[in-house]
Amino acid sequence: MKPYRRPWGGCNTALQLDEPGRAAPAQLADYGCPLHPGRFAIHTVPMRLAQKRAIVVGAGQTPGDTIGNGRAIATVFAREGAKVLCVDRVAERAGEVAAEIGGVAFVADITDPTACAAIVAEAKARFGGVDILINNVGIGGGGDGPAHVATEAAFDRIMAVNLKGAWLTIKAAIPSLRESKGAIVNISSLASLAGANMIAYEISKAAVNRLTQSVALSNAKHGVRCNAILPGLMDTPMAINTVSDVTGVDAEALRAKRNAQVPLGAKMGDAWDTANAALFLASDEAKFITGALLPVDGGMSARVG
Ligand SMILES: NC(=O)c1ccc[n+]([C@@H]2O[C@H](COP(=O)([O-])OP(=O)(O)OC[C@H]3O[C@@H](n4cnc5c(N)ncnc54)[C@H](O)[C@@H]3O)[C@@H](O)[C@H]2O)c1
Repeated sequence: MKPYRRPWGGCNTALQLDEPGRAAPAQLADYGCPLHPGRFAIHTVPMRLAQKRAIVVGAGQTPGDTIGNGRAIATVFAREGAKVLCVDRVAERAGEVAAEIGGVAFVADITDPTACAAIVAEAKARFGGVDILINNVGIGGGGDGPAHVATEAAFDRIMAVNLKGAWLTIKAAIPSLRESKGAIVNISSLASLAGANMIAYEISKAAVNRLTQSVALSNAKHGVRCNAILPGLMDTPMAINTVSDVTGVDAEALRAKRNAQVPLGAKMGDAWDTANAALFLASDEAKFITGALLPVDGGMSARVG
């Protein structure tokens, strides 16, 4: 156990307490440390990703009134000591998260193989290598629908981003991950297992599950692990604000409807739930876990009917 100083001051305990609604470092600094009010605290809590070099692809977020999965993952990883390359297609989003957590922003569109190679080259140049790759990018909507309704354009666009983009990023990172015996975490979805109204999204995520297990097995002898998280109904801007904007359904009504569907406490999960699962799978605590598809869904996948 090594003493550490949180990059933005305060202590780990303060961040844990503040997580759900107050992740911004400035707010945390104001809030201070409950154990050591008024000063920076040094604690002997081991950081779970100390010395790790992480790439979080899709680290920005859809604008909205809560936090997105990728942004929460980048935040938790930085808190646990990782150096984080915050990758996003939108420069402003990557820059905002990187500034917030003390990471490095990088702009790339993962549908472009050259950009995927550039992501890895940047991580190597900045950090000296790559230990963790998080594939968080995922899109839907825009012409997706049941099989007899979805448009070809939507199908191709969603597959190109959710499936091919994840594969291209993994392909680019594997040589570096083999050097470090690193870990990949793909953010899939419960929609990979169930659903009927978003054919392209569902199929893309089912394929991400298979991508995960294929990569896990083809890299196991090289010490690289690959797992996926299947978030269920989460209270994120992508799921609430975007859907509310597109459908015209009031955000609070949408929240109430989704909450009622969740077995555990009749309440959606949030991005911190995804981030904490990603933290575990990316850390050495999961050193014997590869090829796993982990639902983070309040029990929804356990229910039939
Ligand atoms: N929110 C939910 O309820 C839910 C449920 C299940 C699964 N998921 C999965 O979680 C992941 C995303 O969650 P989030 O909350 O972080 O979403 P988000 O939309 O807030 O963040 C994703 C980020 O990816 C970026 N991006 C989009 N296309 C890109 C591309 N081609 N190249 C690089 N960056 C790109 C976006 O700019 C955005 O900032 C997706 O894989 C999604 O399928 C979410």
